[in-house]
Amino acid sequence: MTRVYNFAAGPAAIPEWVLKKAQNEMLDYHGSGMSVMEMSHRSSEFQDIIDTTEARLRRLMNIPEEYDVLFLQGGGSLQFLMVPLNLMKKKADVINTGQWTKKAIKETKKIGECNVVASSEEATFTYIPKIKQEDLSEDSDYVYICENNTIYGTKYKELPPHEGKLLVADLSSCICSEPIDVSKYDLIFAGAQKNMGPAGVTIVILKKELLDHADQDKLPSMLSYKVHADKGSMFNTPPTWAIYMVGLTCQWLEEVIGGLDKMQEINLKKANMLYDYIDQSKLYKNNVAKEDRSYMNVPFVTGDPELDKKFVAEAKEAGIVNIKGHRTVGGMRASIYNACTVEAVEYLINFMKKFEEENLK
Ligand SMILES: Cc1ncc(COP(=O)(O)O)c(C=O)c1O
Repeated sequence: MTRVYNFAAGPAAIPEWVLKKAQNEMLDYHGSGMSVMEMSHRSSEFQDIIDTTEARLRRLMNIPEEYDVLFLQGGGSLQFLMVPLNLMKKKADVINTGQWTKKAIKETKKIGECNVVASSEEATFTYIPKIKQEDLSEDSDYVYICENNTIYGTKYKELPPHEGKLLVADLSSCICSEPIDVSKYDLIFAGAQKNMGPAGVTIVILKKELLDHADQDKLPSMLSYKVHADKGSMFNTPPTWAIYMVGLTCQWLEEVIGGLDKMQEINLKKANMLYDYIDQSKLYKNNVAKEDRSYMNVPFVTGDPELDKKFVAEAKEAGIVNIKGHRTVGGMRASIYNACTVEAVEYLINFMKKFEEENLK
């Protein structure tokens, strides 16, 4: 068996430790005589899985008691709609940093007023706009950001001002990549398929006091955070397998990696190695403002679309897959999430060096 070096943006590489543990437990989960996929979500075994998953995530991220943790379906894309449906009374302030905030803006506008506070679209989203408190609408309910922009490779290093307003953040492509202070946010959401496991489950962490924000009589049940919270994420059949895999990923982060401080150290090491190499290279360029660079998604170009194509093709032959950049940016993108090892990044850099030697005119 040969495993490739997978730099996919999501669904993405999963730690081998997690895959092997899932494999070991596949046919007979803890003496139950069945796999987690075959279990009733109402069984005591599954209740234990979801409780343990939540407890591990709470420990890892240091989630305060006054926050609920939900495991939902519909991806980040459903959160673009659930956030305004549940939190907006009058208006939302959104900072536009790429495709994923544009989609959130589109959905928000269907529910109510949406003010785009700032945007870096004119520069192909290569930086994070810095805003001041006075840029926000006076009557907005919340400020919405995408903390790590998967496609453009930018990341907030500091949260924007949001005095007197709630802060909502899409952490789909950076959750658990570093320690964060959850109490600075009012609602966090993240699809699991980049840093937390397979596709199919979305983690929502929100202040309990927000559950009563919306008029529950008007809100469809499946779109209500309160309904899901009251039922312990089991209002309907939850994505049981995906939740189990998130639990194993949390166990890996806790017991194998040693927590989020350690994970951040490894992630910084990988990102710095790659950016340092790109910055001194005569062939590759990363167009993102240095202070806003992502530690998870590293886009780079050669400046020649034909050469980019050749890079992607030869990389594949060398066992490096899913390195093609998003169609709106072109070039290449290395997604180096938690499961991507230091060794994988070293292997990529060595390939890039060889390609540079062979192709630099
Ligand atoms: C930052 C971010 N938010 C939201 C999404 C949308 O997630 P989904 O496809 O699970 O709806 C993505 C998908 O890649 C993403 O990268």
